[in-house]
Amino acid sequence: MRLIPPAFTVFTFIFPLFSRPANAQGTLSAIPRTIPVVNRSPYFGVWATTEDTKVDPTVAGTVPMTWSWRALNWTGYVRVDGQVWQWLGSDHPGVTPATTTGTYLSATQTMFTLDAGPVTLNVSFLSPVEPTNLVRQSFPFAYMYVDAMSKDGQAHSVQLYTDVDSSLISTRNDTVEWNTTHTASSVYHDIRRRSASSLELYDVAEDGNLFYAMTESSAVTWQTGTFSDIRAIFTGAGKLNNAEDTLFRASQDQNHTVLAFAVDLGNIINTAEPVVWAIGHVRESLLLGYGGTIGVERRVSYFWSQYLAIKDGIDAFLADFPDARARAQRLDEKLKQEGSVVSDEYADLVALSLRQTLGAIEITLPRFDAKSGWNTSDVQAYMRDMGVSKRANPVEVIYAAMPALLYLNPKILMYLLKPLFAFQSSDKYQNAYASPDLGNDYLTATGNGTNTKKLGVEHSGNMLIMAAAYGMQTKDWTSLNPYAKVMKTWADFLVTEALHTKDQMSADGLTGENQSNLAMKGILGIYAMSKIREALGPNGEETYFRDQATSLASQWEQSAVANGDHISSVYGQPATWGLAYNSYAAQLIAPDLFTKKVFRDQSDYYDKQADTAPAFGLAYDSADPHVVKSHWTMFAAAASTSARARDKLIRSIHDRAFKKSTAAQFGTTYNADTGASLPLGGRSSPAQGAMFALLVTDIQGKPSDSSSATSTSKNIGGIVGGVIGGIAGLALLAAGVFFCWRRWKNNRTLAEKKGFDGDAMTTTSFSSPEVLSITARSYPMTPSRYSEMPSELVPVPFNAAERSPISSPSVSDSHPSPVLSKGAAERARNAANTTRRAQAQLPPSEQSDDTTALSYLPPSSTTSHNLHQEVEVLRREVSMLRAQQQQMPPATPTATMISASPSAPPPYYSS
Ligand SMILES: *[C@@H]1O[C@H](CO)[C@@H](O)[C@H](O)[C@H]1NC(C)=O
Ligand SMILES: *[C@@H]1O[C@H](CO)[C@@H](O)[C@H](O)[C@H]1NC(C)=O
Ligand SMILES: *[C@@H]1O[C@H](CO)[C@@H](O)[C@H](O)[C@H]1NC(C)=O
Ligand SMILES: *[C@@H]1O[C@H](CO)[C@@H](O)[C@H](O)[C@H]1NC(C)=O
Ligand SMILES: *[C@@H]1O[C@H](CO)[C@@H](O)[C@H](O)[C@H]1NC(C)=O
Ligand SMILES: *[C@@H]1O[C@H](CO)[C@@H](O)[C@H](O)[C@H]1NC(C)=O
Ligand SMILES: *[C@@H]1O[C@H](CO)[C@@H](O)[C@H](O)[C@H]1NC(C)=O
Ligand SMILES: *[C@@H]1O[C@H](CO)[C@@H](O)[C@H](O)[C@H]1NC(C)=O
Repeated sequence: MRLIPPAFTVFTFIFPLFSRPANAQGTLSAIPRTIPVVNRSPYFGVWATTEDTKVDPTVAGTVPMTWSWRALNWTGYVRVDGQVWQWLGSDHPGVTPATTTGTYLSATQTMFTLDAGPVTLNVSFLSPVEPTNLVRQSFPFAYMYVDAMSKDGQAHSVQLYTDVDSSLISTRNDTVEWNTTHTASSVYHDIRRRSASSLELYDVAEDGNLFYAMTESSAVTWQTGTFSDIRAIFTGAGKLNNAEDTLFRASQDQNHTVLAFAVDLGNIINTAEPVVWAIGHVRESLLLGYGGTIGVERRVSYFWSQYLAIKDGIDAFLADFPDARARAQRLDEKLKQEGSVVSDEYADLVALSLRQTLGAIEITLPRFDAKSGWNTSDVQAYMRDMGVSKRANPVEVIYAAMPALLYLNPKILMYLLKPLFAFQSSDKYQNAYASPDLGNDYLTATGNGTNTKKLGVEHSGNMLIMAAAYGMQTKDWTSLNPYAKVMKTWADFLVTEALHTKDQMSADGLTGENQSNLAMKGILGIYAMSKIREALGPNGEETYFRDQATSLASQWEQSAVANGDHISSVYGQPATWGLAYNSYAAQLIAPDLFTKKVFRDQSDYYDKQADTAPAFGLAYDSADPHVVKSHWTMFAAAASTSARARDKLIRSIHDRAFKKSTAAQFGTTYNADTGASLPLGGRSSPAQGAMFALLVTDIQGKPSDSSSATSTSKNIGGIVGGVIGGIAGLALLAAGVFFCWRRWKNNRTLAEKKGFDGDAMTTTSFSSPEVLSITARSYPMTPSRYSEMPSELVPVPFNAAERSPISSPSVSDSHPSPVLSKGAAERARNAANTTRRAQAQLPPSEQSDDTTALSYLPPSSTTSHNLHQEVEVLRREVSMLRAQQQQMPPATPTATMISASPSAPPPYYSS
């Protein structure tokens, strides 16, 4: 661990603001029933849940799960004075689970405090969220770290143990292979299927490698082999034999293999520093994308452009732990501070959505090319429609996640839009409107040219709005230039189709003419085009589209406003209403297009409606009165001009998300009366990036350096942005300069060492001349609506071939209780396996000869860190903190509002 130089200590002493004690800040005010443990990619997510709704979830004595409720074998033991407790995984026979005394959640971390006899453990899981550093963001690893301390002040002999098996990389019972590698500084295990194939089966990518790593030291021992043998060795001796089992066998062999580490901490009162593991799920080829003139191309994770081999990445990742943790804490605190300006509930929702949103996104490059090396200007991002389908880059979900992306790094929004734009600009695409996604199968994200005219207003609107929002916030209009033509086509489509939405369907599955919310989106799309054209270089079209948008907007107002008090869901039908959630987009990109009074009245209307709303909030539309969509509720909250309406809407989302009777991972779509998840309930969906909506409400006045992760949203700045005055301010600023200089220097040193600190990457590799585009459609809807949809559009959530045979217990929203008890878990698994075997011949195995030849190109120029920018950022941070200290009312704990009362309704999950 790096020593803290004395200068820093002095600095900390003067400005305690900057000493950030572990876990002191940034934790949520409440804990949901199911919480993220690790969330790093669509195929690498681990959750903890609790069966007993009166206690918080834990990982000690409980099976960690994937989002689709597949049980994972991930185990941790601690041996104290010869006696063993289990701190991770389902309870094993003869091993006592440690007692969970606390569960803590922040945006990036999950921590459990556990009692194991005379010793307390803090077990923490950190999923780095580093949106402005594509190397770090795309490196699919997470940290697990453990602190131990004696409870009775006496020294105890303490050894830690942990193992994993193949459950994260395979659901089949076929041969897996593994080995153990030593690098200059670390030791790691690696396990993969013998016949890796680029397929997804039961939500598992079948070509994943699982890595389990730690820094080598004399205290560390390791071993691979049969689970029962290895655990017995540790239980007996407190250490392992540093031996490899090379008898490769089936993943679910009776003697299935685990990859294990043990650490002997000796006789201790407490650990001086945490014991750290890195766990990673690595896929060499992520997916097939549309490759322009070369057709289809394989794309790989961005981080490979930085590392010659995975071992370099692992070494750097482990070495980076102290800094990564500090950065994570800063992000946790920043989100907490900014979110709390609205309310503690709001801050909770922002934090809960963070890992889930970014965990659904992968940042990619084309494969290494022997002639030209890595093309870091061809960055594209891909999003899997988690919790709903396997669609790639679902446009309406990207639209919902837009606030988080605009806040964290708008470039990522662009990278998601780019493949959509590229495909639709090509001669492969003939439609005059934007497409809903890149296809139905995430691993083949090559484009969707199907006739989807019904969704044309929805997705053309989404794409144009997101393009304009990106341009307005970043001022990087040139990235949009190559797609001006296709965008104009879409805008033309909207000019004729938007106002009356004839034969159109919204992303919510609403059909019929005169849908005011959908029409508003279409009109905003036209307006977006005028802004884009204006910025790209006026050619007359900007005036044309502005005039069209203005005229349609006023016609819209005449048709949509009912009884003078609200926006009716359908023109001329005053009894209809809905969350006119696209008003959030109006606020972002076109604050003056519609009469402000319309939205003021609508806010007041929400305020009234909320009082008579069902228990779990306002439905998104009166045509579907029992369904809540949290992402759209948050859009409506962000667009509310009334703080009362806003807070009621936020509270309704919070009530449901943190309700202990709700098992599903932070899902988007649920029953308004009971809170029950709907079949396509968007569990773990990136659409929850919508939670950031209140942190991003005014993008138009932003300075152009907005890609900085520390970009402070304008409205928050307006509320808390204090002025640093007088001598104190000067001192603070001077100290800040010093602090930044130090940070800058450290970063430079690190970068020179080619460590994990890739701040370097940013400037050069981000300067890609690129694009945007968007398409959307969110189909979870009431079954009655399916019949109204054209048959080609009826959503098949997990269609026959994809459908998991274990879908009732494992892919449904029902609580995973079967897997919580060991016997039942096994029975369920066996039943599932039988079905799996029956289907096992289905997928053709893809040859692995196309494995990426990973090669190395020196990282492009190192840190171009801008000291000035850092000072500016720091100044803003300081002023915010100060302002907050002076102005914020003390935080009131809200734990009571979510505590499950005995009279809570019985679990309502359909099974
Ligand atoms: C363990 O976590 C608790 C609760 O946050 C905290 O008070 C304590 O300081 C932590 N101990 C260590 C060694 O990190
Ligand atoms: C998980 O552990 C159980 C019990 O040890 C075992 O039966 C099962 O096969 C394991 N799963 C995998 C995928 O190895
Ligand atoms: C472990 O196996 C992988 C994949 O076959 C291989 O690339 C690597 O070199 C092996 N490591 C050792 C130490 O044998
Ligand atoms: C997995 O396959 C192995 C070897 O073929 C077999 O011994 C074992 O019983 C199988 N496990 C399950 C759960 O089917
Ligand atoms: C499992 O391992 C034990 C000893 O470790 C051995 O006796 C037994 O035969 C093995 N079972 C199988 C099915 O390989
Ligand atoms: C790198 O990617 C950019 C953007 O897609 C493209 O214009 C350029 O031709 C590529 N360079 C090479 C060497 O392939
Ligand atoms: C394109 O999207 C539509 C609507 O979601 C879907 O029905 C169709 O199957 C998709 N086509 C492809 C090629 O994925
Ligand atoms: C849609 O609204 C227009 C006027 O705004 C009206 O003329 C038309 O009849 C409406 N269509 C339906 C199906 O109600």
